[in-house]
Amino acid sequence: MDYAKFGILKLDEYLGGGLDRSSINLIIGRSGIGKTVLAAHWAAEGARNDEKVVYISTTMNKFICKSYLGRFGFMKDVFDKINWKFVRWDPKFLMPLTKEKLLEGLELIYGSKSKDVDRVILDSCTDLENTLADVVLYRRAMSILADLAYEYGITALWIEEAPMKEEWSPTKNFAEAVLFLDLLRVPEGYTRAMRILKKYRNSHPLEFFPYEITNEGIVIKDGWFVRKDYEYEFKPSRQN
Ligand SMILES: Nc1ncnc2c1ncn2[C@@H]1O[C@H](COP(=O)(O)OP(=O)(O)O)[C@@H](O)[C@H]1O
Ligand SMILES: [Mg+2]
Repeated sequence: MDYAKFGILKLDEYLGGGLDRSSINLIIGRSGIGKTVLAAHWAAEGARNDEKVVYISTTMNKFICKSYLGRFGFMKDVFDKINWKFVRWDPKFLMPLTKEKLLEGLELIYGSKSKDVDRVILDSCTDLENTLADVVLYRRAMSILADLAYEYGITALWIEEAPMKEEWSPTKNFAEAVLFLDLLRVPEGYTRAMRILKKYRNSHPLEFFPYEITNEGIVIKDGWFVRKDYEYEFKPSRQN
């Protein structure tokens, strides 16, 4: 099977090879945790394999993007092969929220037909959620986008800002793989760690694994983090 890999050995291995083709996938985490860097790895890996990669950014501009993501080691030789698109959502461009309208809007952003696109990154879908400002509309947009990905053989990676307190948005329900990035409180202070919350079609580790962000990009470190305390403990049945 041909997977859409991140090009990060351990992560691809934990995912059972990489992300499944023609699927919707999600990276979720709070601001500054490493979502954009991780998505950029995935974009770079696609470009390295001569895939057509579109990175839709709703937060960066051209200059920030080049001076930030362009400097990472993993972007060497591939930065200019990625189709960077800097977008500000406008309800005008999204309404009425139909499949035809979204397809037309997306192809305008892509600058080409959907069938020619291999990987799409949407960084972030939280901005889309805020623009639509309505959970029913947002869910509808997400399900249309998911349908379009299947229909046109696009592998999509969406990025979502994790809420500090409120409920998570419905996005994770549409995704076939969900990666959760978080800052864990450990005896030495804090550590970055990620965890596969969901991955269809194969088993995967459940624990948090640590990673670092360096000039080379994301480096997965050895080992796992398991919770020190737990609520339930298994006791074998008493022999009597
Ligand atoms: N070259 C670098 N070396 C080490 N850490 C970096 C480097 N560039 C960014 N970082 C770390 O990555 C964080 C931002 O990661 P990013 O993927 O942009 O976060 P977000 O989850 O908000 O998209 C920064 O706050 C910083 O801690
Ligand atoms: Mg980001």
